[in-house]
Amino acid sequence: MSIVCKSAGEIEKMRRSGRIVRQVLDAVSAIVAPGLSTMDLERVAEKKIRDLGAKPAFKGYYDYPCVLCTSINQEVVHGIPSETRKLVEGDIVSIDCGVVLDGYYGDAAVTVPVGTISDELHTLVNVTEQSLQKGIEAALVGGRLGDIGAAVQGYVEAAGFSVVREFVGHGIGTKLHEDPQVPNYGVRDQGLKLREGMVIAIEPMVNAGGASVRVLDDKWTAVTQDGRPSAHFEHCVAITKDGPVILTD
Ligand code: MF3
Ligand code: CO
Repeated sequence: MSIVCKSAGEIEKMRRSGRIVRQVLDAVSAIVAPGLSTMDLERVAEKKIRDLGAKPAFKGYYDYPCVLCTSINQEVVHGIPSETRKLVEGDIVSIDCGVVLDGYYGDAAVTVPVGTISDELHTLVNVTEQSLQKGIEAALVGGRLGDIGAAVQGYVEAAGFSVVREFVGHGIGTKLHEDPQVPNYGVRDQGLKLREGMVIAIEPMVNAGGASVRVLDDKWTAVTQDGRPSAHFEHCVAITKDGPVILTD
């Protein structure tokens, strides 16, 4: 394992890529509505990324074909935008985007409602977003990786939901995925010591039902084993002596 700690200057560069990711996610979230296809979201995202002077991080990564992952309802992550997949009132759609600017990566995700959604979906989305905040609050110099996972997992399970184990967060910097892996489960005071200058993407995937997932024949789309819905939020966070700093705000 090789963990690269970042200087203040590098973190500043990552903040610039992070801001672009946020602008893309905001632009895409703003147009989400019943009847649009996930490819409509993809087109808006790609234009926005290029207009802001960045490059997409996902397109071409292990041959992934798009700039976004769009994962609807029981799709957990890595849903591939499609011209024929239309958003339907009552759906939730997770939108995941990564960019690279000046050699530094940014990566973030949100889950947004399509029109009016059920109370259960509303709770699922809120708990997932809050669990990310709990994880971020645990990203402290001198703490351990297990503190982050335990914070996310404890919050999610107290709400009666489950955390996905097969996909995890990650270090990020001059590569989209760097060491260490950042699980959304764990035990406090265990695992790697968190150091100043580490930058990690924390990305809880939370299932309304059981934790198990499987990957569809398209080799990308991860879905829940039991067909129940799933939500996903992600931020890039710098661990600094002044506390965690969200770079994708
Ligand atoms: N945010 C996801 C991740 O960090 C998205 C990767 S999708 C891929 O793993 F296409 F780039 F693989
Ligand atoms: Co990520």
